[in-house]
Amino acid sequence: MKKIKLVDLISPYLEIKEELFKEWEKIFQKMWLFLGENVQKFERDFAEYCGVKYCVGLSSGTEALHLALRALGIGKGDEVILPSFTFIATFEAVWMVGAEPVFADIEEDTLCISPSDVEKKITSKTKAVIPVHLFGNVCDMEPIYELKKIHGFYIVEDSAQAHGAEYRGKKVGSLGDVSAFSFYYTKNLGALGEAGGITTDSDEIYENLKLLRNHGQISSYASINPGFNARLDEIQAAILNLKLKKLDRWNTRRREIAEIYRRLLSGLPCQFQKTKEDVKHVYHYFVIRVPERDKLVEFLRKNGVDVGIHYPIPCHLQKAAENYGFKEGDLPVTEKVSKEILSLPCHPHLKDEDVEYICSLIKKFYS
Ligand SMILES: Cc1ncc(COP(=O)(O)O)c(C=O)c1O
Repeated sequence: MKKIKLVDLISPYLEIKEELFKEWEKIFQKMWLFLGENVQKFERDFAEYCGVKYCVGLSSGTEALHLALRALGIGKGDEVILPSFTFIATFEAVWMVGAEPVFADIEEDTLCISPSDVEKKITSKTKAVIPVHLFGNVCDMEPIYELKKIHGFYIVEDSAQAHGAEYRGKKVGSLGDVSAFSFYYTKNLGALGEAGGITTDSDEIYENLKLLRNHGQISSYASINPGFNARLDEIQAAILNLKLKKLDRWNTRRREIAEIYRRLLSGLPCQFQKTKEDVKHVYHYFVIRVPERDKLVEFLRKNGVDVGIHYPIPCHLQKAAENYGFKEGDLPVTEKVSKEILSLPCHPHLKDEDVEYICSLIKKFYS
């Protein structure tokens, strides 16, 4: 039986393997493992790629979100608006700084945060809004910019799933005051383990972040503020440098695969994630909303296709958030979508015939 993985972690590694071992050998000859020349190169190149002045390499996407909020001075007594339909880390970052999470519903077509619900949730305590560019789509930013003009909150992009995505010709990573990236090894731009980073145009935030990631040290063993251990290491940065060169090609292939899915699944009871005008999606996953989702998952898995559910439980209904008192019914669109959503394989090394096989199975299931 054919076996198709949701994410292919081996093929991207094989593409860079030869060069990677040479780069690693150079690192191991020096044994300078943190914040060295590989990290500096990646920070320069990724900032340039995103079209901003700075990138700060960090140990994970969760730390990126956490330190982004901290660098903006957000904490106790402040409210942060975020979607509940996201990975739990987006919520955790708000919890980590002691601010109040305020969940906004999503748009039923883009599956990203709904600007009109954000507007309803704004109060005098709102200090930041976190648009999560989910599955590689880009949030509808223009109405959020309009609200920012009136209310003066910060925009913290959660770009963990959207490296290289574009909005009106600008890259994700340049659409807010700060942008948090995960380079976890399954991401469109992934290391071989844990890694993350923040992009920003602000000199002040950049200087603040460099201290926060490294125990507040301005020089060896001289700390001017308590900080964290959240540095990107040289071994991961060397991988990211090699993979960054391939990101655009890989994202183009993801878009080709998405087109095949759309063509072959049209006419079936599958709803696709829509993009706003002038958005370049990078399809971290190709998601569909379907009836009898759980039976379809079982059927596809039985036939060798690994699929995912992102996300079966929205953040506001997670046990981890029980102390905040959210309840079923708070976010109707989010709750409905979480029961219907299904992620199909959409990685750049997937073959056309694999996509055709997956679509033929879905057709069979609904016939
Ligand atoms: C939307 C989103 N935000 C944040 C994160 C956290 O990133 P990391 O796993 O690198 O800590 C992830 C990772 O899965 C994510 O998908």
